[in-house]
Amino acid sequence: MAHHIALIPGDGIGKEVTPAGVRCLEALARRPGLDFEFSEFPYSCEYYARHGQMMPDDGIETLRPHDAILLGAVGYPGVPDHVSLWGLLLPIRRAFQQYVNLRPVRLLRGLTSALRDRGPEDINYLVVRENNEGEYSDIGGRLYDGLPEAMAIQANVITRKGSERILDYAFRTAQARPRKQLAYATKSNGIKHSMPFWDEQVAAMAERFDDVSVEQYHVDILAANFVTHPDWFDVVVGTNLFGDILSDLGPATAGGIGVAPSANINPDPAVPSMFEPVHGSAPDIAGEGVANPIAMIWSVVMMLEDLGEQSAADDLMGAMENVTHEGRVLTRDLGGTASTNAFTDRLLAELKG
Ligand code: NAD
Ligand code: IPM
Ligand code: MN
Repeated sequence: MAHHIALIPGDGIGKEVTPAGVRCLEALARRPGLDFEFSEFPYSCEYYARHGQMMPDDGIETLRPHDAILLGAVGYPGVPDHVSLWGLLLPIRRAFQQYVNLRPVRLLRGLTSALRDRGPEDINYLVVRENNEGEYSDIGGRLYDGLPEAMAIQANVITRKGSERILDYAFRTAQARPRKQLAYATKSNGIKHSMPFWDEQVAAMAERFDDVSVEQYHVDILAANFVTHPDWFDVVVGTNLFGDILSDLGPATAGGIGVAPSANINPDPAVPSMFEPVHGSAPDIAGEGVANPIAMIWSVVMMLEDLGEQSAADDLMGAMENVTHEGRVLTRDLGGTASTNAFTDRLLAELKG
């Protein structure tokens, strides 16, 4: 039975790395029993320029029947970010209640950490980011625009239901890993209402998982420890904005944003989850054909896992790590000279064996 995948290449290098991901899936689909059907949607800033909106009114309903969504990147100079992101990426995450944003941080064999003397055994953790609420709420507003008293108020919404479901996912994820360690980001020393409430939800959930060890970190020192002690971490859970920042910082210690994958997951199979690199559309290199496709291809690996195709996922990840380990064909951000396509060609040759 074919997996139905909605492709949204989006903007900038999203349109360069998405085809690399699709080539990997097509190569895997030559195996018996594995098949994909792709539907591509042009939703993007270019689409906005033509239609005045990032996707059509029925965009969400059009995406709904798919088994998964693979997205490149959204946002491009000329369209304000609050228009492009609030018109496409964020509504998809919300509409399908993809409340988990799972972002692995792992130093692949052959890549060099920005941290001195750190190897793959030191950097291997998961950032579990709450993906639907928190600081990204649309509650708030602006007052007195244009006046000296002008102000903006932005609510940080932490609900019991939203916290319970992300914490349940994070604890289960930690429980399934050998180290069974969960660190959580907070800021209850400075933020008076939302963060103490979040801490209470963590404490309540911890009672249900007595085999998982839990450590609290204020997000400021947590960020510092990602740099000084990456080996301390196994699973790290945070609210939406803290998770966003930590999931750029972690990969920065493990090869950079070009190798950072992510999965926006709703565990309910009735709605699609969405897989996308952590990075954006990189207008500074778009069109040059030099974007690193690893973040996208690793996101494809996460998609295969979510679709239950574990052996295809393992093969693709294994082949990719063989290529990084060999270190001969790498893109510019990793110190090499290969193009997006040259890296993908090398990977597909490795996958064939
Ligand atoms: P960015 O991730 O696009 O780029 C940051 C830097 O990293 C740039 O120098 C870029 O060249 C480099 N880079 C990123 N991905 C790379 C790759 N695969 N290979 C090599 N180098 C890579 O972040 P930004 O500049 O803050 O944002 C650009 C646009 O993308 C903005 O509109 C922003 O809102 C949007 N954005 C979208 C997403 C998304 O769709 N998920 C995520 C982040 C940013
Ligand atoms: C990410 C991005 C998005 C986010 C932006 C582009 C809205 O930074 O996926 O990490 O903040 O979630
Ligand atoms: Mn981000």
